Amino acid sequence: MLETADDGRTWLLTGPRSGYAVHLTERDELLHLHWGPRIALADAEALAARPLPGYWPFESPLDGHEEYPVEGGPRFVRPALSVRSAERRGTEWAFEAQETEGDELRLAFRDGGLTVTLHYRMRGDVVERWVTLHNRGPAPLEVLRADSATWTLPDREGRRLSQLHGRWAAESRLVRSGLTYGEKVIGSRRGHTGHQHLPWVAVDTDATEEHGEVYGCALAWSGSWRIAVAQLPDARVQITGGAGYDDSGLLTLDAGQSYTTPVFAGLWSDAGFGGASRAWHAYQRQYVIPDADRDRPVLYNSWEATEFDISEEQQAALARRAAAIGVELFVVDDGWFGARTSDRAGLGDWTPNPDRFPGGLKPLADYVHALGMQFGIWVEPEMVNPDSDLYRAHPDWVQHQPGRRRTEFRNQLVLNLARQDVQEYLWERLDQLLSSAPVDYVKWDFNRCFTDAGWPGERYPQRLWTDHVHALYALVDRLRAAHPQVAFESCSGGGGRVDLGIMARTDQVWASDNTDPLDRLAIQHGFSQIHPARVMAAWVTDSPNTQLNGRVSSLRFRFVSAMAGVLGVGGDLAEWTEEELAEARDWVALYKEIRPVVQRGDLYRLLPPRGGLSAVQYVLGDETVVLALLQAQHHGEPVPALRLRGLDPAASYECRETGEIHRGAILLHHGLRTGLSGDLDATVVRLRRTPPA
Ligand code: GLA
Repeated sequence: MLETADDGRTWLLTGPRSGYAVHLTERDELLHLHWGPRIALADAEALAARPLPGYWPFESPLDGHEEYPVEGGPRFVRPALSVRSAERRGTEWAFEAQETEGDELRLAFRDGGLTVTLHYRMRGDVVERWVTLHNRGPAPLEVLRADSATWTLPDREGRRLSQLHGRWAAESRLVRSGLTYGEKVIGSRRGHTGHQHLPWVAVDTDATEEHGEVYGCALAWSGSWRIAVAQLPDARVQITGGAGYDDSGLLTLDAGQSYTTPVFAGLWSDAGFGGASRAWHAYQRQYVIPDADRDRPVLYNSWEATEFDISEEQQAALARRAAAIGVELFVVDDGWFGARTSDRAGLGDWTPNPDRFPGGLKPLADYVHALGMQFGIWVEPEMVNPDSDLYRAHPDWVQHQPGRRRTEFRNQLVLNLARQDVQEYLWERLDQLLSSAPVDYVKWDFNRCFTDAGWPGERYPQRLWTDHVHALYALVDRLRAAHPQVAFESCSGGGGRVDLGIMARTDQVWASDNTDPLDRLAIQHGFSQIHPARVMAAWVTDSPNTQLNGRVSSLRFRFVSAMAGVLGVGGDLAEWTEEELAEARDWVALYKEIRPVVQRGDLYRLLPPRGGLSAVQYVLGDETVVLALLQAQHHGEPVPALRLRGLDPAASYECRETGEIHRGAILLHHGLRTGLSGDLDATVVRLRRTPPA
């Protein structure tokens, strides 16, 4: 709901549990009033009437109070907007107009030829904010920085910051630390979202998993980005974020041109970190993820089994085994195209390798369909190997600086997707590929960062950074529109491109190349802070885990770990014994039963992975699923009972594994005994409310 006060200068957005209010002063300063529990419009007006604290000349009265601090004038905080013209730098705006469309509020400001419009929209309890810039003047403007939003938190003492950091094969690790004066800046200057940080932060004072106030912000952008969390001299906290890492130039706006920033979404919750996560998940399922009410199939991916050494018969043999254990989607990973027999060649040539697939992909796709499964393929369209027909024909199509070395990572270069000819080439190739065989699924990879982001001959090559992302989005959107039966997975060497921007156009994401079931728990724990199980692909692979750490674990442990997301199998099924295949078939069948609860239910993190017992619980209607995993048991340290959440204390719950009837009050207060013992043990417990509500 959106309300405007009678003065036409105070606005209040209201969600189911939260409210957000801003006020425009007589001097056209846009001040932040409120972000927190629901308030009445009269409360917002009363806040607007409170004068700003007085200041000595060494501080600015505006700092820490503005919705979108621009560069210039009486401000010392990090500017969200930095614009330069031939004459001057900075912005001094005058209010121009307010507009509302449905539940979207637009506040437009004018500075000479530049119009700056701030957009606000409430989606559940998530406030979406973004900005549009429009150059209506005759002369070009250089936009050095245009953040999506600055979020202002109310005065509190002892703030803590939560973030998700990582690196390749160790993504989305949750860390929480005290916030002190100054700025904490996270981001990516790599051209993609990056393995190093998910574009999300949360700030609290004393929240626990189930109680307390949490503020969270997440950026919907898949290129370079920056989020700065600042504790100002008066201890106020502001969070500013947007596309681009630094202020060295974002784009030029020629006369008549406009630019829209990505969305920076904010969420207030008073239900602890768990409540905040559930609200983020609900938001993504309802507003961000395509077809989120459709459950994702169990997939098989051949990468770890076969790597680059693939053939049609070998994939068909794997497909038979995959179908026999209940897999629903068979994905051929890297190595099916061009001269791609290793990572040294072939990227860019998106036609099936004639030696490996003499009849193209269709015969295998048809075979997989005949086995009752969907068919998927791997692509990495934004890249090229120098050893490829594409590069030999168009060496100028890659990002490069004139007269400089072209840096190769994994023997590959980045195509300059900002170029129209490159966009058209990729559209034609991929459209044709998806038309040439009945493909149901595309795993879209991105396996290196930008290093030489130049564009010889272009007047303002800097725009390549943002244009690349817009071109990627446009390409995926166009392919989705032309091939609506195809689902997409976002992968970037694992979890290098996980953000709300890519999630709006992909059906699931690959959270990490690390498929070790124990390492994975920490990755999944962090991932779940912001994103739902519905998008988190997770595979069961071989033991010992030869790809990474050599760990030996049971099929049981591997399956229960991977069942916390969209289950997949990625082991070498050709090597699995009959007993292992039979056991796998049972686990897959069990997953299909619990899938609606896992993929669409509310997630409760019961115990984080800390070396002993860890567990997650999902609740959907009358159904509850608990996945419990014990890393190691130590003598003298009993395995604790799991206190469940989200149940009705007055109801009873039947355990589907044992038939036992549990009382809700006891499960909530005294807990569920898992019976786990030893090392790397795991179990699935299904509970059903009885009688149903
Ligand atoms: C990346 C992905 C892997 C696999 C390989 C193929 O590393 O993360 O899952 O697809 O590329 O080259």
